[in-house]
Amino acid sequence: MIRITCVCGARPNFMKIAPLVAAFRETGRIESQIVHTGQHYDPAMNKVFFENLRIPEPDVNLEVGSGSHAAQTAEIMRRFEPILMERRPDWVVVVGDVNSTIACALVASKLNIRVAHVEAGLRSFDRSMPEEINRLLTDAISDLLLVSEQSGIENLRREGVTENKIRFVGNVMIDTLMQHRTRAGQSSILETHGLSPKQYAVVTLHRPSNVDTPETLASILDAFEVISKDMPIIFPMHPRTVKNIAAMGLDARVESLTGLKTPEPLGYLDFLKLMDNSCVVLTDSGGIQEETTILGVPCLTLRENTERPVTITHGTNRLCGSSAQAILAAFAEIKSGGVQTDRTPELWDGRAAERIARIFVEPSPD
Ligand code: UD1
Repeated sequence: MIRITCVCGARPNFMKIAPLVAAFRETGRIESQIVHTGQHYDPAMNKVFFENLRIPEPDVNLEVGSGSHAAQTAEIMRRFEPILMERRPDWVVVVGDVNSTIACALVASKLNIRVAHVEAGLRSFDRSMPEEINRLLTDAISDLLLVSEQSGIENLRREGVTENKIRFVGNVMIDTLMQHRTRAGQSSILETHGLSPKQYAVVTLHRPSNVDTPETLASILDAFEVISKDMPIIFPMHPRTVKNIAAMGLDARVESLTGLKTPEPLGYLDFLKLMDNSCVVLTDSGGIQEETTILGVPCLTLRENTERPVTITHGTNRLCGSSAQAILAAFAEIKSGGVQTDRTPELWDGRAAERIARIFVEPSPD
């Protein structure tokens, strides 16, 4: 048996490990262990995804919780090391670009345990983003770089990564979306919030660049005020955003926007149904840019850059930054029928995890 330790920690990791764990089991030749770092711990950010996606309970939960970047990363490392020293797997698989990703990759690499990075090679070229640092460092120490889009291959080659470490496998997040889209259709989230298909906007916002500065957040809220007079906005709020809105004294402003609803973060199936039936999604998330591309729903990304350029060249995504003026201009364009595409990114076909599993059971993955 090939022994693999799969790491997850934060919300966007769960939909990536779900198809991997299933595909590993399917081979009959891989014994996988799930280690949850505990980076995200609120049930709405964590447990609901395990239930919705039927991911087996983690074998280990490191329960690190929140902290500064250094404190959180260090604590994950400190608690992960003894787990690896005891199990000594053949591989550690890390996904995405969160603090849990780099922390666990670093521990494994120092113990001479091979690391595979799923979603390797993505680059925003913006080192003010904590995720960009996590991506660069994780790729630099990984032994197997599993790439989701063509730009990832080019970025890794430019950074001098040897060809035999790079595998273009497709997008595991899209595996999950395809597998659960029909089930998500049964969610009653639209009725719960009194929404009609294609007549509302969905918002998610949690990047430090958008929610940590009062001026930026206020400008974004100005845009939401205008949009919410046109169509209802549903904005399931990330805990970081909730805290910042309170700390900046912006609660009253948010409450005054009658067309804006701000429920707690939603589970996977409810959120997928919500996106699938929306008129437009406004977001600063990475994964949502990819999901809307496959759903064919226009996506306005409230950032200056994206590490997922295929969602622009082949998908429904467009960058509009964070100024009210730019958001409203892009919104107006979408309402008048702009931004449509019917091209699907290469290998975003629901079979990425299967390809990855095959690599591990091939005679010589390294
Ligand atoms: C993290 C990831 C980000 C990802 C996001 C998805 C890093 C550097 N960032 O950002 O890439 O897009 O997850 O959600 O890893 N909190 C809670 N409950 C929780 C988790 C967090 O209340 O279950 C609050 C805490 O106050 C915490 C803050 O949210 O301090 C931020 O959490 P953290 O895990 O540090 O980063 P995210 O902003 O969630």
